[in-house]
Amino acid sequence: MASAGRVALVTGGGAGIGEAVCLRLARDGNAVGVLGQKAANTQAVAQAITDAGGRAVAVQADVSDRAQVDAAVSQVRDTLGPVTILVNNAGIEEFTPFEQIGEAAWDRIMDVNLKGTYHATQAVLPDMISAGWGRIVNLTALGAQIGAANMVHYTASKGGVTAMTRSLAVELGAKGITVNAVAPGFILTPMAQRAIDGDLFPVPYEEIVATYPIPRVGQPEEAAAAIAFFASEDAGYITGQTLGVNGGCCT
Ligand SMILES: NC(=O)c1ccc[n+]([C@@H]2O[C@H](COP(=O)([O-])OP(=O)(O)OC[C@H]3O[C@@H](n4cnc5c(N)ncnc54)[C@H](O)[C@@H]3O)[C@@H](O)[C@H]2O)c1
Repeated sequence: MASAGRVALVTGGGAGIGEAVCLRLARDGNAVGVLGQKAANTQAVAQAITDAGGRAVAVQADVSDRAQVDAAVSQVRDTLGPVTILVNNAGIEEFTPFEQIGEAAWDRIMDVNLKGTYHATQAVLPDMISAGWGRIVNLTALGAQIGAANMVHYTASKGGVTAMTRSLAVELGAKGITVNAVAPGFILTPMAQRAIDGDLFPVPYEEIVATYPIPRVGQPEEAAAAIAFFASEDAGYITGQTLGVNGGCCT
């Protein structure tokens, strides 16, 4: 199910699920633009790919800033070629009771998670339309499917990403572009580790995952495998779908 020979752009590619996606797509034979805010992280991921004989470039951008995203996409295009795989992975989360979510926090979550997806998708779409082929994979979340306390702004942003996924799938299907989403449950990444360290879950995370049919946390590579499938040639007749990577939890 390889997606060999394409150029992929992975937002938030310097850590966590995004890092695993970069390494997986490179292993599948694609060149990878590793986009993120932290140069040290994105450069380390790009270096790991080139050290293994692949092609990669690290580019810096905050996905909420359109000018930065456009500049980063141009750099990837100039270095690696037209982008025909996009993984909208960059995201932030925050735990705050709903009554206390301030407007700035609400806007920041929306700007990164939802508007960032709009920015990156619009920036690469001309390449996909010219190629008559494209794969867009968006990261949503289990919390947006079943609800999550103290995360209303986060889950609302991810619900928006799900709706974007379906509408873009309808709009772009005839152009050879598929648009799907992956909804992770509990994947052990720096994001999840920060929440564990900050004691931010309502009950200890071990108790949460113990209730899952597969009673453990997931690994970034397990989310990357689902994303790589949607990015592959084999997934060409699948669009508008959301695949849970959640140990069978709740859906
Ligand atoms: N880990 C989980 O259990 C889980 C569950 C559900 C959904 N998700 C989603 O999966 C995606 C990846 O999550 P993760 O756990 O790997 O997160 P992470 O925090 O471990 O990594 C996210 C990466 O995105 C980058 N990033 C953050 N804001 C950015 C911005 N404005 N511009 C560019 N890059 C930015 C970070 O620097 C980091 O490299 C996110 O969209 C997250 O919401 C994760």
